Amino acid sequence: MNNLNFIFNRQSVRQYTGQKVEDEKMDQLLHVAMAAPSARKKDPWRFIVLQDGEKLAKLQEILPNGPFLTEAANAIVVLGDLNEAWDNSLIYMIQDCSAAVQNIMLAAAKLELGSCWLGVQPKEERIKGVSEFFNLPKNIIPIAVIALGYPACETIFKSRYNNNFVHYNRW
Ligand SMILES: Cc1cc2nc3c(=O)[nH]c(=O)nc-3n(C[C@H](O)[C@H](O)[C@H](O)COP(=O)(O)O)c2cc1C
Repeated sequence: MNNLNFIFNRQSVRQYTGQKVEDEKMDQLLHVAMAAPSARKKDPWRFIVLQDGEKLAKLQEILPNGPFLTEAANAIVVLGDLNEAWDNSLIYMIQDCSAAVQNIMLAAAKLELGSCWLGVQPKEERIKGVSEFFNLPKNIIPIAVIALGYPACETIFKSRYNNNFVHYNRW
């Protein structure tokens, strides 16, 4: 599976060098994000690229689950536009945005960047905190924050394959 090793090498990175992600790489990540599948091709995802140290520090205060955001030095806030989602459904929108998050994280691994998914949904206080911080319109819903940057730790090839989770042709 050599050509797929970048997927197995992806791991949640929580230690970073603090180096800025180059504009070209950030642009590539945004392009792969918007290549994700989305219900009825509604593409309800929206993104805020964050590389401002003060704003990252503020976001870190709002998200106690991401104490390494400032060290990462880069983040992408993934949001969904509920007005644009299929059936105006939050559940469809979260699935669409999650597919975009995963595309970003796998591409980041391929580009030798580290990343970590910081959950925002469904925690009310995090949703409120992020919404207020960015002064979001009512229809724009925070889904997740991706911490991004150059890893200050080794990535270890790993597989969590479990044959018990797989069924063929019947449960
Ligand atoms: C929906 C979701 C929310 C997550 N939230 C956090 C988080 O708030 N903080 C964090 O450090 N990691 C978070 N993670 C990362 C998981 O802890 C991590 O993916 C899991 O432990 C597996 O490790 P790996 O990513 O290294 O394979 C989240 C992952 C997902 C899918």
